[in-house]
Amino acid sequence: MRIGILNSGGDCPGLNAVIHGVVGAAHQLGWEVIGFKDGFEGLLPPGDFRVLKPEDTIGILKLGGTILGSTNKGHFAAKIGAGDVAEVPREIVDKAKRTIDQMEISALVIVGGDGSLTTGLQLFKAGWPIIGVPKTIDNDLSATAMTFGFDSAVTTVVDGLDRLNTTAESHKRVMVLEVMGRHAGWIALWGGMAGGANVILLPEIPFTLEKVAAFIKQRDAQGHHSTLVVVAEGAHMPDGEQVALDSNCSGEIRLGGIGEQVASKLQALTGKETRSTTLGHLQRGGAPTSFDRILGMRFGVMAVKLAEEGSFGRMVSYEAYHVDSVPIEEAVNKLRLVEPDGEVVQAAKAVGICLGD
Ligand code: F6P
Repeated sequence: MRIGILNSGGDCPGLNAVIHGVVGAAHQLGWEVIGFKDGFEGLLPPGDFRVLKPEDTIGILKLGGTILGSTNKGHFAAKIGAGDVAEVPREIVDKAKRTIDQMEISALVIVGGDGSLTTGLQLFKAGWPIIGVPKTIDNDLSATAMTFGFDSAVTTVVDGLDRLNTTAESHKRVMVLEVMGRHAGWIALWGGMAGGANVILLPEIPFTLEKVAAFIKQRDAQGHHSTLVVVAEGAHMPDGEQVALDSNCSGEIRLGGIGEQVASKLQALTGKETRSTTLGHLQRGGAPTSFDRILGMRFGVMAVKLAEEGSFGRMVSYEAYHVDSVPIEEAVNKLRLVEPDGEVVQAAKAVGICLGD
């Protein structure tokens, strides 16, 4: 039997661990593994791929990124915007299917986020033997409690906050850290809580900066002169307000990202020196944490198990320490957002973190 695997969408710590899991488990069954390069693009004739043997996976567990390459562009890019999905054109699907048929691929493992798994679902409905593996640092996929990559991203946020705290305390400043997460606030919430943030601003919880400013002033009055603020990139300024920022280079007035916006307004409201940092793609890079290595590997092993059973159209999932699977359909097109009244938000509030609401 021959099984194919591809990584699609943005890179994510732990992708190589999934490859390791798939290759290891498939090899035990005597199967051949074909790794398609650069996401779905590798499926297009004549096919861009490499045969993956166990020796090819030596040392890859600790590597960030993916040895197969990935893309969120190209002929198969399904996602236009949140919840706005375009089907992959029929002629592209048919072309790629020829590669699958000619190479006698009996199962195709797609490691991807919402957009890539939506494409996977389309291909499954067109008769392809698809198995999905959820991948995103944002942790926003439905039907799985966690995706690999999230823990690594949170760890990077924590490291960033530890470093920013040095300047915050030394200079009695407010330090704002903008983190990734697309439309969801999971990275901000978990990273902020673990990193000792005093304020966490999420897309899911409307906030006012006046409340945050009052909180910062109160901290000052209590002798806590530094404040760490984490803001999710998907958070919005209250009432769509946007603050004009001076540009240091051109002298032109410009509008910054949410982190800069929040910092500028907080400085004006509190009179405290405030700085903003955007963590950006640092959150996607570097070695995966041990949790993500194990989760990725287990996901890969489960994908092979599903292939062995012929359980196609399913996505590997994780629930309460247990790796399982669910129909892909349950996972896509409904982002899993932070619940404003959920237990983790309540815990953040219980320890005195301000959410600005
Ligand atoms: O979905 C993962 C993610 O890193 C988001 O957190 C972020 O908004 C986006 O991808 C960035 O995408 P790109 O690398 O295409 O700029």
